[in-house]
Amino acid sequence: MADTDSRLALDFCGMPFATPLVLLSGCVGFGEEYTRVQGFSNRDAGAVCLKGTTGTLRLGNAPHRVYETPGGMLNAIGLQNPGVEQVVDNILPTLDFDETRFIANVSGSTIEEYIDVTRKFDDSPIDAIEINISCPNVKEGGVAFGNDPDMSARVVEACRGVTRKPLITKLSPNQTDIAENARRCIEAGSDAFAVINTLMGMSIDIEARVPHIGNNQGGLSGPAIKPIALLKVHQVYQVTREHGIPIIGQGGVTTPDDAIEFLLAGAAAIGVGTALFYDPLILPKINRGIIDYLERHGLDHVGQVTGALQLNTQRPAQRCGC
Ligand SMILES: Cc1cc2nc3c(=O)[nH]c(=O)nc-3n(C[C@H](O)[C@H](O)[C@H](O)COP(=O)(O)O)c2cc1C
Repeated sequence: MADTDSRLALDFCGMPFATPLVLLSGCVGFGEEYTRVQGFSNRDAGAVCLKGTTGTLRLGNAPHRVYETPGGMLNAIGLQNPGVEQVVDNILPTLDFDETRFIANVSGSTIEEYIDVTRKFDDSPIDAIEINISCPNVKEGGVAFGNDPDMSARVVEACRGVTRKPLITKLSPNQTDIAENARRCIEAGSDAFAVINTLMGMSIDIEARVPHIGNNQGGLSGPAIKPIALLKVHQVYQVTREHGIPIIGQGGVTTPDDAIEFLLAGAAAIGVGTALFYDPLILPKINRGIIDYLERHGLDHVGQVTGALQLNTQRPAQRCGC
C-alpha cells in the first residue's frame, strides 16, 4: 500500500507506525528477506522485528527445523544469528529507516547476555528493543526466564537499566498466569508487550518413530494457535489498559478479520509471521480489510477498535470450558 492511510497510523510508545501491522521476529530474517519479492514493501508494515539476536554467533539447531502441521507449523530454529556486533555493525546500516520502524529482538542464556545485547542495540539506530523471554527452542534462557514472573521481571529490570529506547516484552503462552507476569514486567519497566510467542509442540514420523523436528520439539505458530493467542491478549489487556501500555497481538493472523479480533481483544498493533510463508503479499490485503471494517462500522481510526470487545454478560462468567 504505497499511500498509507492516516486511519491506520498510530503512535506506539512514541514511535510513528504507518499501519498497525508488525512483521514478526524470525519470519522476515533481518528485515531484508521479503524485500526481494516483487510487490512486497516494508512500508506496508508499521514495524519490522528482526530475528532474535544473542551476544555471540549461534548456528542454531540440527535439521529439520520446520515442519508444517494442520493449521500451522512447528519450528525449532534455535536462534541462529550472527551475534549482536555483526547485526549492529553490518546489518543495521543496510536497512532503510525511511521505510518503517525496526525493532531488535534480544535473547540470551543469562541475564548478563540480555544486558550486553540490549546495551549494544541501545547504542545503535534501532527504534525499539523487544526482549524475547519466551523462545522455546534453546536449552537455556528464553522460555525458562519467561515462565517465571520473578525471572521475567529481573530480565526486564536489567534491560531497562541500560536503555531508554522503547522496551517491548515478548510473553510466553507456556505459563500459568500471563496477566500476573505482565503486571510484574510493567513494574520492572516494560513499555509494551508482544503477546504471544509460539506454543511448544511435537509431531512424529510414525514410520521412522522419531519426531519430525531435529530438536524433537518446536514452537507451534499459525492459525492453530489463534484462539489461545486471543485469550492471552485479552488477559494481558486487563492489566495493561489502566497503564496505557500497548500490546502487539500475534499468533495465527492470516486475514483482516483475524487482525480485527486481536484489536477488539485489546491489541494496539497486530503481528504477522507465519502467514507470510503462505502469502508474502498479505500485508496490503490486511491493511485494506481493516479500513473496510472501519468504514462499515462508521469509525475514523483503528485505535477506536482496540479493546472494544464486549463480553457476554447474560450468564455468570464461567472459566471452565467443559
Ligand atoms: C520460523 C520462526 C522463527 C521464529 N523466531 C523467533 C525469534 O527469533 N524470536 C522471537 O521472539 N520469536 C520468534 N518466532 C515467533 C514469532 O515471532 C511469533 O511470535 C509467532 O510465530 C506467532 O505468530 P504467527 O502465528 O503469526 O507466526 C519465530 C516464529 C517462526 C515461525
